[in-house]
Amino acid sequence: MEVIVKETYEEMSRLAAQMVAELVRKKPRCVIGLATGSTPVGTYKELIRMHKEEDLDFSQVVTFNLDEYVGLPPTHDQSYRYFMNDNLFNHINIRKENTYVPDGMARDIPAACALYEERIREHGGVDVQILGIGGNGHIAFNEPGSSLASRTRVKTLDEATRKDNSRFFDSIDQVPKYAVTMGIGTIMEARQVIILANKESKAAAMAAAVEGPITAMCPASVLQMHPTVTAITDKAAGAKLKGDYPAEPHTLVLK
Ligand code: PGA
Repeated sequence: MEVIVKETYEEMSRLAAQMVAELVRKKPRCVIGLATGSTPVGTYKELIRMHKEEDLDFSQVVTFNLDEYVGLPPTHDQSYRYFMNDNLFNHINIRKENTYVPDGMARDIPAACALYEERIREHGGVDVQILGIGGNGHIAFNEPGSSLASRTRVKTLDEATRKDNSRFFDSIDQVPKYAVTMGIGTIMEARQVIILANKESKAAAMAAAVEGPITAMCPASVLQMHPTVTAITDKAAGAKLKGDYPAEPHTLVLK
């Protein structure tokens, strides 16, 4: 795993955006796996800036989001479809029909999950997957204990996750209890992974993910088995790492 510890959130976000932009320029029809949450917002802001100021062209790009709450319609301002439109898609020239987010309102959720996997395959698989990490080590909504081989499915959210995410809702009671999430096996099939973490609250989870044992109790630790992962943190989230990591990548070129 290539680990890069940046000084600030802005620098972390800029590097992640540069890596994605490099892929989009080289492979205009690329498939990008996207994450929601606070962490990638700076990366999305930088991609929007590059689109507006540097003509970064998303017209042929296809995206697949990691997860969606069960029971929230796309019009709900805490749904992840709404988040993606608001934080990225509405500000770049991507075609909305090329943006996939799991359907948390599907009548037959297992069928919708299987279809989601099929769509990813039809598009040739994910070229680069952007990930955040939960304070409990989760990736997407694969909570501790998730099968490291899991596929897209419904997961019950941990109380810790519901508490973390209650900041976006009026109260914890309004945070959905279930989500549809890509599985860990699904995420591991991406050709390249960029995992981002900022703030001190992520330091322990990042240390466990990067330097700890591979265990389902820290789902992000499975990334140690992936051949092309770049972990980028700010100084606070990198504070518990024992290794001596550089502030610059060896290369910006995506495989
Ligand atoms: P955050 O969430 O980016 O809002 O911190 C990350 C996650 O829980 O995966």
